[in-house]
Amino acid sequence: MTRVPLARGDDRYVRIRRALIDRPRSRTELPLAAPGSLPRSSAGRVFWSQRAWSEFAAVPAMAQTSLALVRQRGPLDALHILAVIGADEVRHTEISKHIAEELGGYVDEIPEGSGFRPNSLAEPYDLSLPFWAISNGCVSETLSLELMRTRLPHIRDPYVHATVTQVMKDEMVHARISWLLAEELFPRMDRTSQEELAEYARDVFAVMERTFVTTALPLEARRRERRLRNAVAKEGLGAAPSAEEDATYLRVRDEIVLPRLRKLGLPL
Ligand SMILES: [Fe+2]
Ligand SMILES: [Fe+2]
Repeated sequence: MTRVPLARGDDRYVRIRRALIDRPRSRTELPLAAPGSLPRSSAGRVFWSQRAWSEFAAVPAMAQTSLALVRQRGPLDALHILAVIGADEVRHTEISKHIAEELGGYVDEIPEGSGFRPNSLAEPYDLSLPFWAISNGCVSETLSLELMRTRLPHIRDPYVHATVTQVMKDEMVHARISWLLAEELFPRMDRTSQEELAEYARDVFAVMERTFVTTALPLEARRRERRLRNAVAKEGLGAAPSAEEDATYLRVRDEIVLPRLRKLGLPL
């Protein structure tokens, strides 16, 4: 016999679910740029292709999080939230690809050695919910939100500025649900599992340093990547200067994510 309790979430889940459902159409539509309104930019098209790979990786990661939540008999409200977030990530992927196209063409080939790996995230994984909550949630969502906050003042193209502003609002809700799951899950884990999770968090940060920022890339790739971001920042098309992005990463890791994870019991 299999039990299917189908639990509801508490008020906090219900509130986040409501907030997602109540978003006005203007927030969820992400309009396309008027044809020809964006400049041609060889750096910009690569940068926005990378953004598309990164957003696309969040789609299978959200699906994996949902599967883990079902296995753990998590609340239905949380499942709804994850499904909506999955749809958000599809929209973010589409709009990033669109911007890349408008800037000169979407690049569909991820270079060897890069940390972006959306396809492998769609493979079956044997990871429980806390692992997905930390990688896909606490680290990625928090960092991506703060990177957007750093980039926004450097964006001079009005369409790109408006788009990043909208996407940021989604990421704020995504980060909130991630931390809510973490607060429920992490303090209840036994010590060995908390240690495993802390180890995993370190691995996740290492991936971030080859994707979201450039700090752990091999020298040549790091130089290339920094030149790219600096060029995009100079053109006002979406990035911040590389040094600023790296500084944001360190600040988010050391002053936001690590202290919060320690507070939830992880030995980091
Ligand atoms: Fe996203
Ligand atoms: Fe997100």
